[in-house]
Amino acid sequence: MSSELEQPDRPDEAVTAALQQISQRYGTPTYAFDIQRIRAQVEKLHRHLPSEVEMLYSLKANASLGICDVLADCGIGADVASAGEFATALEAGFGPERIFVAGPFKMPETVAMLHDTPQAILSVDSLSELRFLAAEGLRNRIVFRLRPDFDSHAVVRAGSECRFGLTHDDLLRCGDELTSCGLEVIGFHVFAGSQVLDADKLNEAHLRRALDLSQRAADMLGISPSFINLGGGFGTPYGAKDQPLDLARVGDELARLVERAAPARLVLELGRYFVAEAGYYLVSVLGHQTYQGRAAVVVDGGVHQRADLCGLGLRSKQKPPIPLGVESNSLRPTAVLGCLSLPDDVLLDAGALPELAAGDVLAFSNAGAYGLWSSPAMFHSSPLPAEVAFDGAELHLMRQRQPAESILNDQLHVPQRQEVAPS
Ligand SMILES: Cc1ncc(COP(=O)(O)O)c(C=O)c1O
Repeated sequence: MSSELEQPDRPDEAVTAALQQISQRYGTPTYAFDIQRIRAQVEKLHRHLPSEVEMLYSLKANASLGICDVLADCGIGADVASAGEFATALEAGFGPERIFVAGPFKMPETVAMLHDTPQAILSVDSLSELRFLAAEGLRNRIVFRLRPDFDSHAVVRAGSECRFGLTHDDLLRCGDELTSCGLEVIGFHVFAGSQVLDADKLNEAHLRRALDLSQRAADMLGISPSFINLGGGFGTPYGAKDQPLDLARVGDELARLVERAAPARLVLELGRYFVAEAGYYLVSVLGHQTYQGRAAVVVDGGVHQRADLCGLGLRSKQKPPIPLGVESNSLRPTAVLGCLSLPDDVLLDAGALPELAAGDVLAFSNAGAYGLWSSPAMFHSSPLPAEVAFDGAELHLMRQRQPAESILNDQLHVPQRQEVAPS
């Protein structure tokens, strides 16, 4: 076997035992989430970042109600980008005053919820949206989302080239309408991209430059901001060669920025950092195929439930899945293929895996962010997988696996010609 092939991670025995229990009790495909790991991420952030920095959980990374329950209980706020995420944040118990409502254009359902939740802070993305929200008579305090005027170092970028937020000229026009619009502007919001592992690049581009931009915008509008959301983009080490983000270094920079921003409070909106490493995607081997000249197993999941594999190049860089309860001797390069009739349905290009038989369960690690919740999950009329949380040995079902027929729920027939009554 090639010595370059990645070996699976070896999580501690308690985690492996919980994953085995979950696959036996709830079957596969299933997402499993280690609640203790989520709490540990929150504690790590508290330990390294200045206490003045407020943290929000970006629900777009994973809006499972059970996951949101855990993060609300940890005392952080919520960053939501749709009415569905807004409803989930309220249901999970995030305080309304700790809910930050963003997204490129607020839909009528979101506006209705904003009317009912005047404590929530609202991020405005364009002049057109400012006019629309003002006409709606909302009482929520607002911040302006600013389009970065600097390059992003993120793997998934939202820098100067992106469509989000106000440009310099847009901001000038918004400034002209501030007094007439009746909305109170309390600050700014900048998000320059996702998945940055280099602390120096994160500090320089995503944090320092975001504050510079916000302060210039405040001068332009002649306001003294009380709230500046610097975004974040804190990355997750997915590949064996990825170094974890040096959080202490980020904390030092934030301490300097807190002083510079005062009396405005600094806010971060993080998704991936809280949940990615807590998630496992469990699939069972159905049989064997070959793929690009090497051995391959076909499993009962697929890329339709793993949107996170796309865009980040994870299918070739991630660590191989953990074979649960399978002797890990005689490893050989093996690909893991999903069950869709899609050539690209490849969950793993090649990893060192033991001989696998039908029914063996594989656990993909680092699957907690942007997996199911960003996926084209209905492809092939696929039912949703189960979602289960584990807290040590305690298991909590968060979503029952849906039966195949669930795909028919809420669908209506089109009457055929002979069924239409003659006029
Ligand atoms: C506006 C905005 N905020 C926050 C996030 C969360 O980013 P991450 O999961 O990298 O922390 C994203 C992700 O794309 C985003 O677009």
